[in-house]
Order: sequence, then structure tokens, then C-alpha cells
Amino acid sequence: MPGRSIVFAIAIANVVATAGFAFAAEAADSGVLARLGCDTCHLTLAPDDAQRTVERYADRRGPDLFYAGAKYRADWLAAWLADPLPIRPAGITPSDRTRRSPDGDVLESMPTPHPRLESQRIDEVVRALAALEWGRDLLPQAAPVLPSMPRMLAELNFTKFKGCGSCHRVSSDGPPLSGPDLFGAWMRLRPEFLASYIAKPQAWDPVAPMPDYGLTTAEVGKLMEYLRLLSEEEDR
Ligand code: HEC
Ligand code: HEC
Repeated sequence: MPGRSIVFAIAIANVVATAGFAFAAEAADSGVLARLGCDTCHLTLAPDDAQRTVERYADRRGPDLFYAGAKYRADWLAAWLADPLPIRPAGITPSDRTRRSPDGDVLESMPTPHPRLESQRIDEVVRALAALEWGRDLLPQAAPVLPSMPRMLAELNFTKFKGCGSCHRVSSDGPPLSGPDLFGAWMRLRPEFLASYIAKPQAWDPVAPMPDYGLTTAEVGKLMEYLRLLSEEEDR
């Protein structure tokens, strides 16, 4: 019975955490991810820093999930696992699927759709992902206060001044880019994670290909405000 096994896992996690082994709590709760085979494509347990190499990054079959607890909004996770629409339409390693041409890179094959999770599993899986501890210490205590700014200025700042638009799409129009689509990012990612990742991507992954722009908290707030404004629009 799935209900019983998760209560059991949480009970163990509590005992272990009070004994001072917070790391073991992660292993206890993430059992369901291994049982369902999520870990054949996703890393669900934090690796050593030495294992986080460019080669490992390029060989990934799915994005890392060992910091899922710090990264995703739980309501988004539940909805997406039931109906997983692409976030990286060119796949996790777009270079494997593209061919250079005089007109730019051409996408040669589409990635396989993500496995859909049966509805009775969703709660258990979301709780297991939310229980993963890694990265909590990288989050700010509170999400930054977002400035109020005209949408056009927010967009110019994101696409032109900061150049984020060269790797991230802000609408489903146009060819896929190398980074994840960000038009759904506000609904998908916890604001504290957005703040931390945009400020310092390499704190989350030492080999992440996104540049560290050395942004101030105020500049990060402006970029987040643009992602929030996008979430208010239909049909991106
Ligand atoms: C066959 C490989 C494979 C399996 C098995 C798999 N995934 Fe994925 N997963 C992927 C790929 C590839 C992506 C990236 C999809 C995209 O960005 O469009 C992904 C994306 C995700 C995301 C969104 C990640 C992000 O940061 O954008 C979550 C959450 C996720 N998977 C959870 C799971 C869970 C939970 C399971 C097990 C029930 C699972 N996956 C099983 C390959 C897999
Ligand atoms: C050179 C390409 C590049 C540029 C420029 C770039 N990014 Fe990224 N970004 C990436 C890639 C690739 C990832 C995914 C990293 C991973 O999966 O480990 C990413 C991840 C992210 C994420 C986390 C999303 C997720 O689902 O994991 C956010 C938020 C983000 N970028 C925002 C920005 C913002 C804001 C800017 C401009 C200041 C920017 N990026 C500029 C390549 C880029």
C-alpha cells in the first residue's frame, strides 16, 4: 500500500534526523524514485563535487533532481508529472540532435516524450522530491522583493541588456534554444531558487554552461520580475 510505505519512510527520517544524520533522511524518502526507475535518467542523490565533471554533465539522460526540494514548486511538480510538456524542446543535450548548416543549427530529431506518472503515484513522488535536502543552504532566507517595472523594459533588460534570450526562449514561438524554456519558469521554480540560480549558477552545478554575470540582488530582482510578468500572460 503506497500510503503506508510513505508514512513509514517519514517516521524513519524523523528518527534519523534527530540522531543527527540528516543525510540518511534523504535516502529513506527517495526510495520510491528508485523503485519507479526515475534514477535511470536522473541523479536523485547528491554526488561528490569530484563527480560533477563536464563529461558527467554531457552524459546526463535527464536534469539533476537531487536538489528538487530546493528547486520546484510542489504544485507545479504534481501537475507536470501527470502531463509532462517539454521544457527543453531540443532535449537535455541539444548538441546531440543538431546539425550545423549555413542557416544555423538544425534540429534533426525530437526528444522522446517524458514518461507520464499514474495519478495514484503522484503524491508520493512529489513528497519524495520535496524531501531532498541538497541546496537548501544556497537559498536566500526570503525571496527578493521584486521591483515594479513596465513589461517592455523588463523584456529589453532580459533579452537585450543581459542577453538571457540567446539561450532561453520566452515564448513557444521560434526554434528551441540550448537552455530550458523560461516562459513557465515562475510557475515551475521556487522564487528563492530563481534568485539563487540566476545570481550564481555554478553554486548549483560547478560545470553549468550558464555564465555567472556577477549580478546584484537588485538586478536579479528585475530578471525575476520579467519571469513573473510572463506567467501572467496566456499562450506563451
Ligand atoms: C527515460 C529517461 C527518464 C525517466 C525514466 C524519467 N525522466 Fe524525468 N526527465 C527526463 C528528461 C530527458 C527530462 C527533461 C525534459 C524536458 O526538459 O523537456 C526530464 C525532466 C524531469 C523533470 C523536470 C526537470 C527540470 O528541471 O526541468 C522532473 C521533475 C522529472 N523529470 C521527474 C521525473 C520522475 C519523478 C521520474 C520517475 C517517476 C522521471 N522523471 C523519470 C528523463 C527521464
Ligand atoms: C550561454 C547560455 C545561457 C545564457 C546566456 C543564460 N543561461 Fe540560463 N541556463 C542555461 C542552461 C544551459 C541552463 C540549464 C543548466 C542545467 O540544466 O544544469 C540554464 C538554467 C537557467 C535557470 C534554471 C532553470 C532550470 O529549469 O533549471 C534559470 C532561472 C536561468 N537559466 C536564467 C537565466 C537568466 C535570467 C539569464 C540572463 C541573466 C540566463 N539564464 C542566461 C544557459 C544560459
